[in-house]
Amino acid sequence: MNVSITTRTVPADDEAAGLAASCLDEGGLIAFPTETVYGLGADATNATAIARLYQAKGRPAFNPLIAHVANLADAQALARFNADALALAQAFWPGPLTLVLSKAEGCPVAALATAGLDTVAVRVPAHDVARAILQTFGRPVVAPSANLSGHVSPTTAGHVRDDLSGRIDLIVDGGPVPVGVESTIIFCAGERPMLLRPGGLPRARIERVLGRTLAPRPRPDASGLLAPGMMASHYAPHTPIRLNADALSPDEALLAFGTPLAGADPARCLNLSARGDLVEAAANLFNNLRALDGTGARAIAVMPIPDEGLGEAINDRLRRAAAPRE
Ligand code: TXA
Ligand code: MG
Repeated sequence: MNVSITTRTVPADDEAAGLAASCLDEGGLIAFPTETVYGLGADATNATAIARLYQAKGRPAFNPLIAHVANLADAQALARFNADALALAQAFWPGPLTLVLSKAEGCPVAALATAGLDTVAVRVPAHDVARAILQTFGRPVVAPSANLSGHVSPTTAGHVRDDLSGRIDLIVDGGPVPVGVESTIIFCAGERPMLLRPGGLPRARIERVLGRTLAPRPRPDASGLLAPGMMASHYAPHTPIRLNADALSPDEALLAFGTPLAGADPARCLNLSARGDLVEAAANLFNNLRALDGTGARAIAVMPIPDEGLGEAINDRLRRAAAPRE
């Protein structure tokens, strides 16, 4: 990040939730305690805020994020719960369990937060401070662990400050967190629930509620994507992608960055960011790809994106979209 911002730390007192909620409302980034680890929160419905979140964490790729909500009813506005998912939510929420589910119709979570997937990860945290913020804010909050990419997850406000001071707006200090490891993640959008990440909720307790064993996690393929069952749900454009285009054929759509290439058909041209802003480009990426995919063009030509800051994550995603598939 080139511009340092002022990071304010406040104690988790009566005013903190209101402060955190108005910061989220303005598109800000806030660190707050959950029972597992400190999370770095942004308004899940605000793509620009989410792009800033990836930038603040220094993530080289758009890993999908967990949407945090205050209760099961709010979660049901985001995702479709099958019988297994409902049983797990009723048994373990609020608590250190994340469910990956099919998106509900009209799910308001920005495509950037789910990396363009048609699934969404949801969780109702148990920490009083997190719950107060979610209740006050009233919309879903995406929150990865509040550390720089590659560092260990923070369990105190001091850890958060070490990594993210100058990169985020607010830290709500609620003291050390009780669990200390991330939530257990269960993929629950298929026939058999699958353990994606072991975490604060032991597998045996989950299997007891389900009355059967969890499927093992499939091995990621060479590109780091999860294979069988999950690939099917992973959004990849049907139209071939041509990267680093410096000229355009008449039957191609154009995904521009900066000044569009000559000859672009306005009906088949979208601009990630006309002013060359990588935060704006990240916020538009998945929606623009999906829209151009529907134009019937022979291919989508993508103009070069600088490989710096968020450009690295944008290029990572574009390379995956352009990779040959079976
Ligand atoms: O305890 C936690 O879960 C903490 C606190 C802050 O809630 N959050 C956390 O988030 O650990 P993060 O971003 O560090 O890890 C989220 C994990 C990633 O491994 C991501 O790949 C996975 O969740 N994930 C999110 N959405 C997914 C989806 N739709 N399909 C598969 N995996 C998903
Ligand atoms: Mg993490």
